[in-house]
Amino acid sequence: MTLKRLSIQNLRNLQAVDLEPSPRINLLYGENGSGKTSVLEAIHSLALGRSFRSHKHKPLIRHGQEAFTVFGRVSSRGADIPLGVHRQKDGQSSFKANGIQVSSIAELASYLPVQVINSDSFQLLEGSPKVRRQFIDWLVFHVEPQFFGVWKGAQRCLKHRNALLRRDRIDRSELAVWDRELLTLSEALHQYRSQSVAQFRAVFLELLESFVRIPGVELNYFRGWDRERSYEEVLKANFEKDFQQGYTHSGCHRADLRITVNGQPAGEVLSRGQQKLVVCALKVSQAYVFANTTGNRCVYLVDDLPAELDQHHRARLVDWLEKLGGQVFITGVEREALLADWLDRPHLARKVFHVEQGELKAVDETSSAANE
Ligand SMILES: Nc1ncnc2c1ncn2[C@@H]1O[C@H](COP(=O)(O)OP(=O)(O)O)[C@@H](O)[C@H]1O
Ligand SMILES: [Mg+2]
Repeated sequence: MTLKRLSIQNLRNLQAVDLEPSPRINLLYGENGSGKTSVLEAIHSLALGRSFRSHKHKPLIRHGQEAFTVFGRVSSRGADIPLGVHRQKDGQSSFKANGIQVSSIAELASYLPVQVINSDSFQLLEGSPKVRRQFIDWLVFHVEPQFFGVWKGAQRCLKHRNALLRRDRIDRSELAVWDRELLTLSEALHQYRSQSVAQFRAVFLELLESFVRIPGVELNYFRGWDRERSYEEVLKANFEKDFQQGYTHSGCHRADLRITVNGQPAGEVLSRGQQKLVVCALKVSQAYVFANTTGNRCVYLVDDLPAELDQHHRARLVDWLEKLGGQVFITGVEREALLADWLDRPHLARKVFHVEQGELKAVDETSSAANE
């Protein structure tokens, strides 16, 4: 999938921006506060209805305005699909694909798969299991069409089960009904996730090896309940605890990805720099598996790359991004630092944009900054 056209209105400091990105590499440079991250947020909003910086959409609406709008034309398997997102201060929103209102964010998300690499990506190692669960589910969602329905069903069952557990007196027969459905859905969910992680794990370890040598790195998937017992047994064994505390302790909602170095959590033993590399390898491997399985490519949003990686490792990341073959948007403050990573790759189609006070200007990369 490639974004062929992007127009943004009233999103943060971007009043009216219109650009035709390169189908491959897009480099955006500009001073702090010029609007670079906002452009990436606009693309993310088009893909998923919201920014990666905030779940709330109101902070994105330009001060003094009532709404923001992002429009894009996505090229996918030879077809051109117009996508539009409009979000108002009063909470009203409209998400459109092909001129038709889409019914859910999940449907919207299928048109433009995006991956973000920014300073928050390091939460993948240090953050809560939820972050890693979302990471696994990104891939499962994009490669397995049945997954979302199963995931939603399991969420609903859990909600009902937890509500029953919080009642003073529990109706065991009613609980049994939800448990039965939860068992079936959890097993299905676990199958999807474990298949996906198995594919992913192999690619990740190979890629990491080529990027940086960290002996003893392992990646293991935890399904959310004891691997020695069936989910049914676990629910039974946990019943008293679940009832006393009013929620379901084990299940797919507790699934996690455990990244370790010689058995220790990677977030606790690796240096900051090594953690960044592991995170980049995780993000890139996902896109590899996604591309190999679906034949599609996701769009990469890489915020402030020079600030995140040193020059040597940036070059490796750039190698990967080149091999991946999809569309990439990379931001950075310094034009030279940003361009330097690409100078020896003249064969790669790219565009350079200068971002200044909320305005974007395509510039010729060979011209000197002073001539712009
Ligand atoms: N809702 C908003 N309306 C107008 N300006 C905003 C809004 N939210 C943030 N800004 C401003 O937008 C500018 C662009 O921010 P950002 O995209 O993060 O810049 P960069 O990534 O280039 O450093 C900042 O100066 C910020 O103060
Ligand atoms: Mg920024």
